Amino acid sequence: MSSELNPIGVFDSGYGGLTILKEFIDLMPEYDYFYLGDNARSPYGPRSFDAVYSYTLEAVNKLFEMGCHIIILACNTASAKALRTIQQNDLPKIDHNKRVLGVIRPSVEAIGKYTLTNNIGILGTRGTVISNSYPLEIAKLFPNMKVNQEACPMWVPLVENDEFNMPGADYFIEKNINSLLKKNNKIDSIILGCTHYPLLSSKIKKYLPPNIKLLSQGKIVAESLKDYLLRHPEIEIKCTKSSIYKFFTTDNPTIFKKQGRKFCDKITDVRHINL
Ligand code: DGL
Repeated sequence: MSSELNPIGVFDSGYGGLTILKEFIDLMPEYDYFYLGDNARSPYGPRSFDAVYSYTLEAVNKLFEMGCHIIILACNTASAKALRTIQQNDLPKIDHNKRVLGVIRPSVEAIGKYTLTNNIGILGTRGTVISNSYPLEIAKLFPNMKVNQEACPMWVPLVENDEFNMPGADYFIEKNINSLLKKNNKIDSIILGCTHYPLLSSKIKKYLPPNIKLLSQGKIVAESLKDYLLRHPEIEIKCTKSSIYKFFTTDNPTIFKKQGRKFCDKITDVRHINL
């Protein structure tokens, strides 16, 4: 599929990356964006490294074919399990002038500005936690920072099944928050390391002591992309700017439109796509 547009590609396993795209559009509405959700194969959280890597690579290739020069993996699980291999092994073969970025690095860069105790917590899917990507990335930038992680496998299903505002959600949120804080009572900042979790933030705050800061990724990743485009004019110049936002899903577009509005109110044109 060829296109006269050269949009910024935004990829996620399903709906969650819409929380990131929403912030891109708010901060930089002038660009064109293609959002691709692999809803037919989501969630990625419980899947193996190999599965997440090969699904993500298929999506990246598709977005390149559709005219993107830069793609953001707006999914923590894909960023954790696929980004590095794609950047190091695949991109040089596909086209070394194209770029694929993730959400973990910008979140880690930001955490240094938040913590005073140098003790931080990560909440994420099982896949993100097991990959150890956050602690590894943090160790490079902040070698003295103490990191504790907690996998919250029930949180994505709570959001996907519209239970996130219901009393049943409190049970799982309180349980995971308590379990994280029990690991380290000096934690003063927590990264919401999953795209779905911003929808749970009011309930999460209910179970956190008021001194603990919560970092949502959307705004941080958007600021980081803006800065990246400023520092890389050779990429920026290739991104077309007609404020066209298109949405593609590997599953049913009607359902995507309905469900996706919970994450982002900017969804208009949704089409089915095969990977
Ligand atoms: N988008 C995923 C993430 O940020 C959550 C949903 C999934 O497990 O696919 O980790």
